[in-house]
Amino acid sequence: MAGHKELDTVTGAETTGHVWDGDIKELNKPLPRWWLYVFYACIVWAIGYWILYPAWPLVDGYSKGVLGYSQRVSVANDIAAAKESQAHFIEAIAAKSAAEIEKDADLMEFVLRGGAAQFGNSCAPCHGKGAQGFKGYPNLNDDDWLWGGTLEEIETTIRHGIRADHPETRDSAMPRFGADQILTNVQISDTAEFVLSLSGAAGDAAAAERGKEIFAEQCAACHGEEGKGTPEMGAPNLTDAIWLYGGSKADVEETIRNSRSGVMPAWEGKLDPVTIKMLAIYVHALGGGK
Ligand code: HEC
Ligand code: HEC
Repeated sequence: MAGHKELDTVTGAETTGHVWDGDIKELNKPLPRWWLYVFYACIVWAIGYWILYPAWPLVDGYSKGVLGYSQRVSVANDIAAAKESQAHFIEAIAAKSAAEIEKDADLMEFVLRGGAAQFGNSCAPCHGKGAQGFKGYPNLNDDDWLWGGTLEEIETTIRHGIRADHPETRDSAMPRFGADQILTNVQISDTAEFVLSLSGAAGDAAAAERGKEIFAEQCAACHGEEGKGTPEMGAPNLTDAIWLYGGSKADVEETIRNSRSGVMPAWEGKLDPVTIKMLAIYVHALGGGK
């Protein structure tokens, strides 16, 4: 049958001559020309690509291609270019004091962006993405500071940490008044009533009155006569209704009974001085800085 050409009676198309079951015939329908040309062009393009660009895995490495292109090198170049364009900012930050930087609008923009990015990396896990804090991890947006809210104080806190593994870390320990049997349960309850009354939480007035005396004896040395706190000791203001460890009576009793001693890591040595300075300025600018 080879070479025999015949027209199909139904479609009028040429057949290939292949026949099945006596009368099923195969029509001769070649691929469209345009499709074939695109197909050939792809083959040519692929060969060109293999020659010009990295393509084939080899035993040790890969074919590099005559252009020598590498995404890794291209990224490295981009990073180097970005670093170079940042270099003069970094130098200026290193040279200037934080207070000087705060007065330089261009530099501040760079610092706040860099500070925000670094905050997301290093600080957000504990302080929250918006620095809003969690129970035991202070909110850094408000104007309530354990260890002081000036630029210098914030930078020192970040560098040295709090109760951290650093020779100059900020340190202080509220006694465990219950666990170490300095106060009885009733005294703890009375003192808690007094502490709550400082921020206007109405409770048992008679108990608060008894607690007042205990507070003057046991607590005022750190928290101040009026309970307004002492930043040098990291002792919080107890009158502002901002609670690091919760403001229910049970929370306050728990603090008095066992104390808390939150730990903030020291960042000196883990982050470079420029990054720490940027973070200090960023935190100071969050809104609560003094
Ligand atoms: C492992 C958790 C943790 C990480 C990470 C952490 N902190 Fe803290 N931070 C704390 C705790 C806990 C305190 C409160 C310590 C205390 O009770 O005195 C604190 C306190 C602070 C304070 C003092 C607040 C005040 O009221 O005086 C500042 C400022 C601060 N952190 C900034 C940062 C910055 C900036 C970073 C990122 C470089 C960071 N922290 C990362 C846990 C953390
Ligand atoms: C040696 C200093 C010191 C003494 C004395 C002391 N405290 Fe404290 N107190 C602190 C420090 C420091 C903190 C913060 C602990 C932390 O951040 O982990 C604190 C935290 C607290 C808190 C938690 C506040 C919050 O925002 O959640 C309460 C409540 C409190 N103290 C009440 C008292 C009472 C009541 C007494 C006396 C019975 C007392 N303290 C005695 C240093 C002291």
